[in-house]
Amino acid sequence: MVSSTAPDLSVRIGSLTLKNPVMPASGTIAEGMTQVIDMGRLGAIVLKTITPDLRQGTLPPRVAEYRDATLFSIGIPSKGPDYLLEHTLPAYAACDAPLIASVSADTAEDFGKLAAYISDPRIAAIEANISCPNLKADGRAFGMDPEATREVIERMVAATRTPVWAKLTPNVGDITVFARVAEEAGAEALIVGNAILGMAVNAETMRPRLGNVMGGLTGPAVKPILLRMVHQCAKAVRIPVIGCGGITCGEDAVEYMLAGATAVQVGTANFIHPHTMTEAVDWIAEYCTRHGLSAAREITGALRPLHAPATAPTETV
Ligand SMILES: Cc1cc2nc3c(=O)[nH]c(=O)nc-3n(C[C@H](O)[C@H](O)[C@H](O)COP(=O)(O)O)c2cc1C
Repeated sequence: MVSSTAPDLSVRIGSLTLKNPVMPASGTIAEGMTQVIDMGRLGAIVLKTITPDLRQGTLPPRVAEYRDATLFSIGIPSKGPDYLLEHTLPAYAACDAPLIASVSADTAEDFGKLAAYISDPRIAAIEANISCPNLKADGRAFGMDPEATREVIERMVAATRTPVWAKLTPNVGDITVFARVAEEAGAEALIVGNAILGMAVNAETMRPRLGNVMGGLTGPAVKPILLRMVHQCAKAVRIPVIGCGGITCGEDAVEYMLAGATAVQVGTANFIHPHTMTEAVDWIAEYCTRHGLSAAREITGALRPLHAPATAPTETV
């Protein structure tokens, strides 16, 4: 039966209720976006990762483009926490959407200190970007070590009353191990996930295409990988999973939700078509109506089996 009233698009992410499941991925929008789209139509606004110190970021070139993917190495250029509190938050003050900060640091202790420092009623949640190098572990990313992941999330949760979300890296063998660890450590939600580590070479110049040699692969080409990880994580934890990777339209967002995501983040697509997120909100509403769903949350995990259980696919290929 098709519902005659507008579907309820709201979703619960831990202690927060968002008016719809669509938000930007950290680092892919800036204040100027408020002049291009109505950011108040989004479920939340996720801000660029900040670090405790001021950072320049990596040497150029920072982006290598492919047809369906982008390889980038930005290196988290950061204006620091005071700039966030004094300039970034006021720039979004008129937007009727919760603001989500994103933090990164060189040590787990500094993740905690930074979370405490930016705890502010204007920030609805703090995302831990754990894809950055841990200086106490020879630069290995926090998110590639379960114990470092646990320590970062535990320190942040202990340091602030603001909800903590953990943004996992896909550059691991079994991402469900990290999902469970982040949940146990007190994260209210997971973002699955950050960019996939890659590299690009220019055969003619015989040089790397990125100043940092390696970078993060994003865009539509990564979607099947992140979709699979969202599906695995959603089955492994009870906290909400926010899907992120290669979303370019509402249909991509719904695919993530069917696979188990409660909400989604849009990254690279914001650079290509700034209206992607608001159009995705409209598309999800239209999808609910077309499928007779009264609420978008009914999509989450609603993936139907293709085969009878005895012949269902396994997780090996
Ligand atoms: C230019 C650029 C900057 C980014 N900066 C950040 C960042 O500051 N913090 C973070 O957690 N992720 C950052 N990311 C990763 C995105 O948030 C997102 O996880 C990734 O791009 C995958 O989503 P997509 O395929 O939709 O782009 C950045 C991505 C891009 C392309």
